[in-house]
This record gives sequence, structure tokens and C-alpha cells, in this order.
Amino acid sequence: MNAKKFWLLATLGVGQVSSSPVSFCPDDSDICFQWAVPEAGNANIYFQIDAPTSYQWIGLGIGKQMAGAAMFLMYEDGQGNVTVSNRNGKGHSTPLLGDQDSISLLDGSGVKDGRMIANVLYKNTGSLDLSGSSDWIMAQKQGTPLASVDPNESITVHDSHSAFKINLAQASVSQNVNPFSENNDGGNGVSNGDSTGVTETSSNPNSNLILAHGVILTVVFIALYPLGSLLMPWLGKWYIHGAWQMVGFLAMWAGFGIGYVVSSDLDIFFDQTHTRLGVFVIALLGMQPILGLLHHMQYLRQGRRGAFGHVHIWYGRALIIMGMVNGGLGLQLTGASDVYIIVYSVVAGLSALLYAGYATVKSLRSEKTEKEK
Ligand code: HEM
Ligand code: HEM
Ligand SMILES: *[C@@H]1O[C@H](CO)[C@@H](O)[C@H](O)[C@H]1NC(C)=O
Ligand SMILES: *[C@@H]1O[C@H](CO)[C@@H](O)[C@H](O)[C@H]1NC(C)=O
Repeated sequence: MNAKKFWLLATLGVGQVSSSPVSFCPDDSDICFQWAVPEAGNANIYFQIDAPTSYQWIGLGIGKQMAGAAMFLMYEDGQGNVTVSNRNGKGHSTPLLGDQDSISLLDGSGVKDGRMIANVLYKNTGSLDLSGSSDWIMAQKQGTPLASVDPNESITVHDSHSAFKINLAQASVSQNVNPFSENNDGGNGVSNGDSTGVTETSSNPNSNLILAHGVILTVVFIALYPLGSLLMPWLGKWYIHGAWQMVGFLAMWAGFGIGYVVSSDLDIFFDQTHTRLGVFVIALLGMQPILGLLHHMQYLRQGRRGAFGHVHIWYGRALIIMGMVNGGLGLQLTGASDVYIIVYSVVAGLSALLYAGYATVKSLRSEKTEKEK
């Protein structure tokens, strides 16, 4: 490295050291966090959670989403102090108890003037980047105090959550001692934190993929499949029906692929009715084009609808209905508002009625005049 480059880097490096904690109150709320990383701290991180006692619990987590996040829960212990519990995020469910030895509660923690404060020392055994930007999440729940010293106290789901990036390089402090201690009146050279180095991010990194998954499969099951099924008795041309349904079939697998990627990422694949029923319906529909083709070949030989025809028709109808129902379950899983769920159900119901109505009228009429399918 030449001298010029060295000095440039050195100056930039010095420019980054602010010697004060980073502090941040997400969404301008009354819940605030601070971080401080000692310059020679053997991967120690000090952080503070400070929130009104109207909250039942506050969670801070390292990661982009619940799945895989190292989480720290704070709640009142019922004895004038707080309990901080290390948990491991496992998708969209109650985080599991983690290793309590990796954290310790420090002085200055406690319940005072209607606020709970936790000053915590965390030994960074993970891959948290102390010299750059890292992803964090938080969530909160309002309610009566849990008043528990049990780190495995059970909690119920949050009222809301958010996500942000913290540049821990901006949070460096000189000494490896509790920077938030009340006895630490600047003696440590620690000034009050500021929010340089904080960037708010989307609290759901998968939201676009989830939207694509939902839109594609809704179009397939509510529009493409029922319309393609209508086309059969309407036009009586097997190749138009077959080609149309194959477009839907390919789109269905694409939508399924996206759903698989997202649910694996969230660690919820095959964990609840929506993902299980989805796998079931889509795997069974894998047979449908083959049944359609087998029926067509049988029809050419025998000149009438045989077993394959009946199976193709009824198996197909049943699976399309199950797919529609599963879309509603998916909307519930993402926590969509009731309005969306109602609109979805009405449109799905209309689509099913339209198809059933047409299919019935047509089959009553064609009992006399069987024509080429
Ligand atoms: C009883 C415990 C918990 C349950 C049942 C639960 C459940 C859920 C569910 C169903 C979602 C998706 C719907 C939504 O966006 O609201 C979600 C998202 C989220 N939760 Fe939780 N949660 C729990 C605890 C926590 C804790 C302790 C934290 C933070 C430390 C947290 C942070 C988040 C974040 C950041 C998201 C959005 C990112 C993602 O999808 O993972 N959750 N949670
Ligand atoms: C996933 C793809 C498919 C789905 C969901 C599907 C669904 C259906 C449904 C619900 C019907 C009943 C229509 C009615 O009310 O009359 C039907 C009929 C039919 N399908 Fe398909 N189909 C698919 C693919 C195919 C393919 C690829 C072929 C041909 C190679 C085919 C050939 C037929 C034929 C010939 C009928 C008329 C049966 C009869 O009336 O005897 N289908 N299909
Ligand atoms: C809360 O507990 C911590 C750790 O034991 C202690 O240092 C702190 O002084 C306690 N706070 C109060 C108000 O008792
Ligand atoms: C923590 O509590 C849950 C139930 O709330 C229980 O299933 C789990 O076994 C407990 N974990 C430990 C380590 O005690």
C-alpha cells in the first residue's frame, strides 16, 4: 500500500470513531435502545432497552426476521427490576429459550419512574459484525406486567414490530465497562448516544416475494383454472382447454416455487395448514394433465367418456376448490386485514358459482346431444 492511500484510509477510519453509544427509538416511539462496543472489548457488546412499564414485553433481536434471530426479551420481574431473557427465533412462533450465559444484567437496570431499563452485556459469540452494519429487529407487546424472574416465561404475540440496521462501528466507546451505569457520569468519556449509524429497513424482507406468491396463485386458482374448465364444455375443444390449463399449471408451479423459498426462509415450510394443504393440492394436481391426456386417448378409442374422464373432471374440480380455500388460509397467515379476506372469499365464491352454474346447465343440455370433446 502506498503512503497516500494509507493516510486516506487512516483518516477515514478515524472519522468513523465517534466514542459514543448509538441510540435509537424505532418509529419515533417511547421505546429506545442504545448500543456500545468497547474498542478492545473481546467481542463484548453493551446494549440498553428503555421503555415505559405499560409494555408487557420488549424484544430486541439480531437478524432480519424472527427465523434465526438471537433475541433478548425484557419484562418486569415483579421485584422492582427487569428480567432479560435470551431466546432463539424459530419462524413465526414463540421463540425458544436460549443460552442465558451469553448475557448479564448490569447495574443501572431496574424499574424507575414508570420506565423499565435493562443494561445488558452480551458476549458476541455469533457472526455479528462489530466493524460495520448489522441487521436488528424489535417487537413489543402492551399489557399488564409479566412480573416474572423466569427467563422461560411464556409470552403472547407482539402488537407490532420493526427492523433496522445499526452500524456498530459508530458505537465504539473507549473502555470495557458498563457505559450506561449511573455511576458513569462521563468518567468513561462516554457522551450521550446519537442515532448516527442507524437506518430503518423493511421489517419484512420477504414481503415482495409473498405478494408475488399470493397474486400468482390467486390468479391461477380463481381465474385461470375455472375459466379453462369452462372453456371445455363451452367450446368442446380439448386442445384449447388443455393448452389454457397448461399455462395455469406452469404458473402454479412458479407460484409454488416462490412459496417454498419464502417459507423455507421463514422456517415455516410444512408447519401449518396453509403450507401443508398447499403442498398436497399442488402435488395432486401434478397428475391432472396426465389424467386429461389419458382421458382424451380413451375418448378417441371408445368414443365416450370413460373412467379417466370422470376422474379428471371430479379430481380437478375438488382440487381447484381446495386451492381456493387454501388462498384464504394464506391471507390469514400473512395477517392480512379482514377486508382483503372478505374480498378474496367473495371473488373465489363467485368464480366457483359461475363455473358450477355453467357446467350444470351445459351438462343438462348435452345429455341429449353428446358431441366431440
Ligand atoms: C409469542 C411470540 C411470537 C409470536 C407468536 C410471533 C409471531 C409472528 C408472526 C405470526 C409474524 C408474521 C405476521 C406479522 O408480520 O405480524 C411475526 C413477524 C415478526 N416478528 Fe414475531 N412473534 C413472536 C415474538 C417475536 C419477538 C420476541 C420478536 C423480536 C424480538 C419478533 C419480531 C418479529 C419481526 C421483526 C417480524 C417481521 C419479520 C418476520 O416475518 O420474521 N417476534 N411474528
Ligand atoms: C392442471 C391442468 C388441468 C386442470 C385443472 C383441468 C381441469 C378440468 C376440469 C375441471 C374439467 C371439467 C370441465 C367440465 O366441467 O366439463 C376438465 C375436463 C376435460 N379436460 Fe382438463 N384439466 C387440466 C388439464 C387438461 C389437459 C392437459 C388435457 C388434455 C390433454 C385435458 C383434457 C380434458 C378433457 C378432454 C376434458 C373433458 C372431459 C369430458 O367432458 O369428458 N385437461 N378438465
Ligand atoms: C437489577 O439487577 C441488576 C443485576 O443483578 C443489578 O445490578 C441492579 O442494581 C438491579 N437494580 C435494582 C433497581 O435493584
Ligand atoms: C420453556 O417453556 C416451554 C413452554 O412454554 C417448554 O416447552 C420448554 O420445554 C421450556 N424450556 C426449557 C428449557 O425449560
